[in-house]
Amino acid sequence: MSEKTKIIIVGGGVGGYPAAIRAARMGAEVTLIERADLGGTCLNRGCIPTKALLQAGNVIETMKESELYGIKCKGYELNFGAAMARKDAVVSQLCNGVKSLLGAKKVKVIKGTASFVDAKTLQIAETGEKVKGDKIIIASGSIPSKIPIEGIDHPDVMDSDKVLEMAALPNSVVIIGGGVIGVEFAQYLNSMGCAVTIIEMMPHLVFGVDKEIAELLQKLVVKSGIKVITSASVKSIAHKKAENIVTYAVGDKTKTVSAEKVILTVGRKPDFSLLNIEKIGVKTEKGAIVVNDYMETNVPNVYAVGDVIGGIMLAHLASAEGECAVHNALGEKQAMKYKAVPACIYTTPEVASVGLTEEKARESYDIQVGRFPMRGVGKALVVNEVDGMVKIVADKKYGEVLGVHIIGPHATDMIAEAVLGMNMEMTVEELAHTIHPHPTISEAVMEAALTLCGGAIHMP
Ligand code: NAI
Repeated sequence: MSEKTKIIIVGGGVGGYPAAIRAARMGAEVTLIERADLGGTCLNRGCIPTKALLQAGNVIETMKESELYGIKCKGYELNFGAAMARKDAVVSQLCNGVKSLLGAKKVKVIKGTASFVDAKTLQIAETGEKVKGDKIIIASGSIPSKIPIEGIDHPDVMDSDKVLEMAALPNSVVIIGGGVIGVEFAQYLNSMGCAVTIIEMMPHLVFGVDKEIAELLQKLVVKSGIKVITSASVKSIAHKKAENIVTYAVGDKTKTVSAEKVILTVGRKPDFSLLNIEKIGVKTEKGAIVVNDYMETNVPNVYAVGDVIGGIMLAHLASAEGECAVHNALGEKQAMKYKAVPACIYTTPEVASVGLTEEKARESYDIQVGRFPMRGVGKALVVNEVDGMVKIVADKKYGEVLGVHIIGPHATDMIAEAVLGMNMEMTVEELAHTIHPHPTISEAVMEAALTLCGGAIHMP
């Protein structure tokens, strides 16, 4: 029997741990090195804890509208500590799940900080132990970015990690950065009763999302009571007793806004700081590890996946890249495909998209755009979430779907059909003539497609 390939994976987040399981399933001898908690950013400091807190906010919002359903609640009382404890319980259940999955597949997990000795050897900083592998996959993730302004290092200025550890709900916050993390934080904090102001540098929130969808989200965010300041650049933060004064510039005017806490959500940056990749000459560009379509770095047998390679920093993409790297490390030739990567925002309403935005598609195609409003769907009225739409961007000549953008209830679940369709080069005709279950929100996808194929049914 031939010897098993030894694979070492650095990082136990959603880039690394699924790769470890896949490699073990494919017969490799796998070692996973993680310096903190299994599950990485997604499970411990990102996707999962924020969604758990957003869900707490959703419960509050549902209680506020309960009379609409004929249910009178005698007020409610938020126990912030209990909400955080529930978030921690969800996180810990999932992390334990990852641990047992790795155990079941006989993946050796080493707790410690890995550092390259040579291209086949890593040393664990805490113990000095050396681990040798035939193939090494770097999945060391990312850390929150900072901006170099006065006052940024004060303890009242929190990054996303710190926000998820807060002991008490602040009365007010200023969130610097109206991207995905910024709006998700804004929403649950606002629902919990904290006064929120978002300051965003670009002309609107969640820049990069299809403009029409992003602008609708912004309108609804503002309607929910969150103050949004756009096209503003933050200059400094001053601290005065229990108050933080954020100075920002809009055009040629300088203004200030104050709050108990400041949250910084201006992006994330790849993190390979302690890995000593310079020692083996791994190429980097703009602070990220460079890989080819096979997830190979320039150093033979060394791969990199997930946030550490920059680009689109999304959990599900990191997992897909991890699996791709494993297949290649074990002798297959699989190229990573980026055509249909879904992106989701877990606000209310949710936002989900895949493929090209209308703006991007117009740059290279002659396009047609189909839209269908959520209020035309019975189920949206049932769940009292009629704000939103499905928007389909398709090529005019062949009808190929180039992008699908959804804002509305269950958008993040519904996008999966569009992702599958786009992977299969679906036409808008095929989508329109796929029977969708009734009553569901997904009917809006079919109806949006129908607007481009003879007309929608539930729209004049
Ligand atoms: P982001 O890149 O989405 O947004 C950062 C925002 O900050 C941008 O809109 C930018 O214009 C703004 N900004 C930067 N400097 C600024 C300044 N000085 N003043 C005002 N605004 C400034 O980054 P974010 O939200 O921190 O998220 C980091 C990563 O995590 C992203 O890649 C995101 O996709 C991912 N993520 C994904 C989630 C999801 O899938 N639901 C949830 C949370 C994060």
